[in-house]
Amino acid sequence: MGPGVPVCNLSRRHPAEKAGPAFHVPCDLAESVEVARAAETVAAWLAAAPAGPVLLVNNAGLGAFGPFPGEDAARQLAIIDVNVRAVVDLTARLLPVLRARGGGILNVASVVAYQPTPYAAVYGASKAFLLSWSLALREELRGSGLRVTACCPGTTATGFFDAAGLGGLPGAAMGAEAVARFALRAWAHDRPHAVPGLHNLVLTWAGSCLPRAAAARVAGLVLRRRAGPGLS
Ligand SMILES: NC(=O)c1ccc[n+]([C@@H]2O[C@H](COP(=O)([O-])OP(=O)(O)OC[C@H]3O[C@@H](n4cnc5c(N)ncnc54)[C@H](OP(=O)(O)O)[C@@H]3O)[C@@H](O)[C@H]2O)c1
Repeated sequence: MGPGVPVCNLSRRHPAEKAGPAFHVPCDLAESVEVARAAETVAAWLAAAPAGPVLLVNNAGLGAFGPFPGEDAARQLAIIDVNVRAVVDLTARLLPVLRARGGGILNVASVVAYQPTPYAAVYGASKAFLLSWSLALREELRGSGLRVTACCPGTTATGFFDAAGLGGLPGAAMGAEAVARFALRAWAHDRPHAVPGLHNLVLTWAGSCLPRAAAARVAGLVLRRRAGPGLS
């Protein structure tokens, strides 16, 4: 992965200039018809692209914070559609091309994948799905030459919390570029799952060690505070 690698981007809006030149496929990943159409466009773009391995990065995602379901129940369903359904659908549709060309899949999960997350219940469950599915798929693809990695970042300085209505970052955050570099390196080293940042690593280790109900209780106490004044 050096400079000049052709990049294809799927999202609703065109990626920012600083993302570099990319072939942009406008797509609302919450809409299954659009996902199917976008996968066809990507497959055609790949057929015309130079030969070589392909890395599918399942990165698009959204969250919601507060008691379930909150005022916007449709957003809870959109989380499942984008974070879960679209990832599975796109991967299924593009897997034949990946098998033929080599490369792999990088799934962007989250630290919340490691324990239940009250006040981000659907978001946490969507990322737990992604981590579990990613690890299972990796085993199924063992020997195929395809690498599958789940990267599980903690708080990262992006527009994520604004989009979730929290109006800014809830505390210390890693830089987006550092997380992206870490994720690509983890995939290149064929790591099953990887957590950037020592603080996040300790957090996920603790979350995994506790009995699940206890982990949910602790996460609930922390997230209730972090989810902000919107919580009563
Ligand atoms: N930021 C964090 O603290 C953090 C921590 C752990 C994991 N993550 C994960 O990292 C990934 C990237 O998020 P981010 O932090 O970069 O947040 P972000 O700044 O809000 O970016 C989200 C991206 O997902 C795309 N997206 C959202 N809904 C979409 C839809 N319906 N259809 C198509 N694309 C859609 C957005 O593009 P458009 O809006 O143009 O469609 C955007 O490119 C997500 O999976 C998130 O869960 C983030």
